[in-house]
Amino acid sequence: MTLFCIFGNPVSHSKSPLMHNSAFKAFGIKSCYTRYSLNDGNRLKEKFFELKLKGANITVPYKEEAYKACDEIRGIASKIGAVNTIVENNGKLIGYNTDASGFLESIKNFEFKNALILGAGGTAKAIAEIFNEKNIEFAILNRSEKRLDTFKKKGYKCYSWEKFEIKHFDLIINTTSAGLDNNSLPLKEDILVKLFESAKYAVDVIYAKNTPFLALAKKLGLTAKDGEDMLLYQGVLAFEIFTDFKYDKKDISKYMRSGLKSL
Ligand SMILES: NC(=O)c1ccc[n+]([C@@H]2O[C@H](COP(=O)([O-])OP(=O)(O)OC[C@H]3O[C@@H](n4cnc5c(N)ncnc54)[C@H](OP(=O)(O)O)[C@@H]3O)[C@@H](O)[C@H]2O)c1
Repeated sequence: MTLFCIFGNPVSHSKSPLMHNSAFKAFGIKSCYTRYSLNDGNRLKEKFFELKLKGANITVPYKEEAYKACDEIRGIASKIGAVNTIVENNGKLIGYNTDASGFLESIKNFEFKNALILGAGGTAKAIAEIFNEKNIEFAILNRSEKRLDTFKKKGYKCYSWEKFEIKHFDLIINTTSAGLDNNSLPLKEDILVKLFESAKYAVDVIYAKNTPFLALAKKLGLTAKDGEDMLLYQGVLAFEIFTDFKYDKKDISKYMRSGLKSL
């Protein structure tokens, strides 16, 4: 029996165990996936080995600590500077970031030319890097200046609320936590309404909630979706890594979605 877990704090709300255990069961793999609430991100590597894990996912607020804990970083994670998936290989920790590709997969049916990312935290970084890699035009809009520094250094278009002038974007993405456990919008309402009036799509990375951002987008007639598909696809990509790419993505996706819907 191999063991996997999700590290985070808080982590009790995480749906990753439901998704991964559902797929393990459906494929007949003798593995179990659990949650671990970590108090100190610096102890992630120590805990990983103490629990004798084969792999793990990492959620808020430890993705950057996870990046530092890895012996080797693969793929886009090195550009993002954050890891959400770790697998053990010959005593070494190999780190990946599946949030970025998971997000892109979740919007694969959208036809858009440019996007505005609201927020400048870890999720915004992941989306910005995959957009940059795929030559998708984007800009970042954040409440304050400080977190924009890393984006500015890379030459990405970014604005604080103070310096932003309204222009057209096909897709507006909320990566802030506004609306997660309150009823706030990620941006002043009059500005958001103007952006929505000329946009086609709105995506909130928060899942399982009709946030004020999504409610407003729907009211104004946009195609709107929450972060459930992003959650699903980042999980599918992590499962592929955990199981060494032995299983068909469509099957993994089907079994994980049924796990997600099982509550
Ligand atoms: N669906 C999925 O699979 C998935 C995956 C990853 C993350 N998520 C979700 O994504 C969200 C963000 O995670 P993260 O790790 O990127 O967060 P983070 O690193 O903490 O970044 C938070 C960002 O949100 C901004 N912000 C926070 N509250 C705000 C408010 N009330 N109004 C305007 N801006 C506000 C902050 O602006 P300042 O710089 O001004 O403070 C900052 O730029 C969380 O809700 C998380 O659950 C979902």
